[in-house]
Amino acid sequence: MRSLFHKTIGFCLLGLAVVSCQDKDDPNYQYMPDMYESVGYETYGEYKVFEKGQEAKLPVEGSVARGWLPYDYENNPQGYADAKANLTNPLPYTQDNLAEGRALYTIYCAVCHGDKGAGKGILVEREKILGVPSYDDAGRAITEGSVYHVMYYGINNMGSYAAQTSIKERWQIDHYVMSLKGQLEGKPEREYVEEGDVQKNLLPSRADANLYEDAGDVNSESSNENNQTESQE
Ligand code: HEC
Repeated sequence: MRSLFHKTIGFCLLGLAVVSCQDKDDPNYQYMPDMYESVGYETYGEYKVFEKGQEAKLPVEGSVARGWLPYDYENNPQGYADAKANLTNPLPYTQDNLAEGRALYTIYCAVCHGDKGAGKGILVEREKILGVPSYDDAGRAITEGSVYHVMYYGINNMGSYAAQTSIKERWQIDHYVMSLKGQLEGKPEREYVEEGDVQKNLLPSRADANLYEDAGDVNSESSNENNQTESQE
């Protein structure tokens, strides 16, 4: 009886010793380790064979993400001046593009610039923001290129709209802003062109832009024969 008691205690201690050695953070016995630990490199794993021990590599310098193409004008006074002088709207001036531009303008710009573009948006009326110019401000003499440029980078108190809008949307807004400017200056309405007339690359500066045919809205509307190249700057 006594020895059975001792044996039981001894057995329990032994069991405890075995169980307590187990590390909770580690898998227990692995009968087929290959199934737990893959032979291949894990996507974000750390391995000595790689530079800086990091499996995930940075994209090669100069890589261009899908759906995005670089904008060639820099965010400085020179870039602004170049865009103002040289960059033109590649979208045809159709009724559809203008209507889209108007809708987007009302969403993004009208709070400050006002529905007519005279710089009297609701935030200006409530004095939440100051210094919003009218689009016919002679001193600024905005152009298609400068409007695109300030939407891309922002200017002083005005933020950038590059994250909220696509390339095509910005050009649509651009058409609408220029039409507001024309109205403020009392110019006659610009005539619409028919859809499909002139169609240029949305990013005229890229000679190889049609390499990226699947680049979202960038090229979806331009057919190949119209993908002519232009030299800008
Ligand atoms: C938060 C208010 C606000 C919003 C929203 C806003 N702007 Fe502006 N915008 C300004 C201010 C302020 C300036 C004057 C900046 C400066 O000091 O030059 C300005 C200036 C401009 C100019 C003149 C820039 C130049 O070349 O001198 C244009 C064009 C313009 N905005 C277009 C737009 C468009 C298009 C949108 C919508 C996508 C927009 N803005 C949205 C506040 C705003």
